Amino acid sequence: MSEATEVRVYQPSQDMVSNAAVSGMDAYKALCAEAERDYEGYWARLAREHVTWQTPFTRTLNEDNRPFFKWFEDGKLNVSYNCLDRNIEAGLGDKTAIIFEADDGTVTRVSYSDLLVRVSRLANALRSKGVKKGDRVVIYLPMSIEGIVAMQACARIGATHSVVFGGFSAQSLRDRISDAGAVMLITADEQCRGGKNIPLKPIVDEAFGMGGCESCKTVIVYKRTGGACNMVAGRDVWLHEALEGQADTCEPEWVEAEHPLFLLYTSGSTGKPKGVQHSSGGYLLHAILTMKWTFDIKPSDVFWCTADIGWVTGHTYITYGPLACGSTEIVFEGVPTYPDAGRFWKMIQDHKVTVFYTAPTAIRSLIKAADANDAVHPKSYDLSSLRILGSVGEPINPAAWEWYYQNVGGSRCPIVDTFWQTETGGHMITPLPGATPMVPGSCTLPFPGIQAAIVDETGNDVPWGQGGILVVKKPWPSMIRTIYGDPDRFVKSYYPADFQGRYYLAGDGAIRDAKTGYFTITGRIDDVLNVSGHRMGTMEIESALVAHPLVAEAAVVGRPDDLTGEAICAFVVLKRSRPTGDEAKQIANELRNWVGKEIGPIAKPKDLRFGDNLPKTRSGKIMRRLLRSIAKGEQITQDTSTLENPAILDQLAQTL
Ligand code: WTA
Repeated sequence: MSEATEVRVYQPSQDMVSNAAVSGMDAYKALCAEAERDYEGYWARLAREHVTWQTPFTRTLNEDNRPFFKWFEDGKLNVSYNCLDRNIEAGLGDKTAIIFEADDGTVTRVSYSDLLVRVSRLANALRSKGVKKGDRVVIYLPMSIEGIVAMQACARIGATHSVVFGGFSAQSLRDRISDAGAVMLITADEQCRGGKNIPLKPIVDEAFGMGGCESCKTVIVYKRTGGACNMVAGRDVWLHEALEGQADTCEPEWVEAEHPLFLLYTSGSTGKPKGVQHSSGGYLLHAILTMKWTFDIKPSDVFWCTADIGWVTGHTYITYGPLACGSTEIVFEGVPTYPDAGRFWKMIQDHKVTVFYTAPTAIRSLIKAADANDAVHPKSYDLSSLRILGSVGEPINPAAWEWYYQNVGGSRCPIVDTFWQTETGGHMITPLPGATPMVPGSCTLPFPGIQAAIVDETGNDVPWGQGGILVVKKPWPSMIRTIYGDPDRFVKSYYPADFQGRYYLAGDGAIRDAKTGYFTITGRIDDVLNVSGHRMGTMEIESALVAHPLVAEAAVVGRPDDLTGEAICAFVVLKRSRPTGDEAKQIANELRNWVGKEIGPIAKPKDLRFGDNLPKTRSGKIMRRLLRSIAKGEQITQDTSTLENPAILDQLAQTL
């Protein structure tokens, strides 16, 4: 263990306590107590105060058809109205909404008024192409103003968007278009990252070529680079042409609170990725509340969330939360290491960023770069504008936390270590910057109103100090509504019979500190890996591997990795004899690239090994726990007497 075991507590500064939206621990406790006393009344109050409704709701929570909960169901609103028009009506029309910094450093500013015009014109274009309320639109765009405009334009007309991360392969894109039954796709010719132009449109064409995208009649193409781009007559249209002649105003479609704002596909332990469906009203409420309480967002803040709009963090903390709060935010096209690993620090300095939200993987890689080169160390930049730092997506190890705190935050800025998931819509367990004393490595306490708890296999509470299964005991407004097209899977995944369907099952293990009750997430308890903050199902990767003509069998496990949190380790049995030496390396490479093509580069196994067989129990189940030990390079202490061929353990222990 290289990390210090002594627990250090960091108190929020007096200034933060005095000025934050949730000011001090007593204010935090008062909110929790209010929710405890009158759960529905608490959320109803907040929904009335923070969301602008076209038709006010009269019913807060409907549990009749649990676990298909409904919030604010007879209320009507429009999410894009809440993000744009209402800010302009409040006098923020000229305020900068987005500061976009391109990969090459070019900066573009968009005011709230400009943004509304851009959203309205695209919304009109979508309508003119026949897109209606409830239709699904897939967005496969790089980080761009256009990406945010496309999402907001869907919200404006009540279309349900499904953003697909630009790093996903043609196969993954095809599966998502097909599952969602999308009527339209919005994409770009190319994307620019790290000084390179990477074609995007050919991946779209490949996806369509696979079949299954027949529902999708129109492809709108944003010309990002002007590189060569094949356009299919009758299907593909340039974005700038689609916008020609469109009016600058667009009447929002007022939708029911439960109307699906978006689907976002994420990995589970079995089968294909699932389309997590979110609502409009409840989702927006939590996006706003967490911006105000977790990030303490103020009118003068410059907010920067470094996530991609392809992930939920980009949805809640780029497209919706910051805009709904009328803030100024940074949108960054590029990567943290181009032109050098000082890019984040330089951008914070240039744009005077005040609230910065990133992932532990990024921090860890930048620590490594800063250690090697003073020029890209945060100390070489003026980061004095910063006041709050955030972390998301995976556990942050205490050493990375301390470095982030001291070197980026100047030992002055609280770090909010926010635990949440695609399914939860927004933060679930997190410090509040002016209230919660921080402990590195702990996401501390539930967001006010969230009934997080730790239980055993039968659903009984475990005492503090004892690890268990993380659940949420009561429904909350921004929770997942269903898995698109598969309500049974929704129930099985999140409200399983193990707990008599009473609790939301997060899929993570956790432990509460024996004295403080602080939560620490101990990692997934299912077959989902977290690589650099990206969720990957082991089964998905296994299916991709066995789809290769050479592969007979494959088992995928995670192993700890200093940089990426977890790394993918694949054990493969070929249909032919076990390869060795250079041949093994060559086949391993081929298989890695194959997985990259099947799913996307983020799914490529870091470590790939071959065996004549896989270790199995007598009943034929793969002994994953054993494989995890082998992947870690541990001494095997488990009982292996039931193995048919113990010699394979030595084979599988060999790295290539
Ligand atoms: C993990 C990302 C520890 C967790 C917003 C969860 C975390 C999964 C944290 C969801 C955190 C996220 N500390 N673990 N602060 N935040 N996780 O759906 O395993 O991409 O279940 O949502 O990431 O990943 P997802």
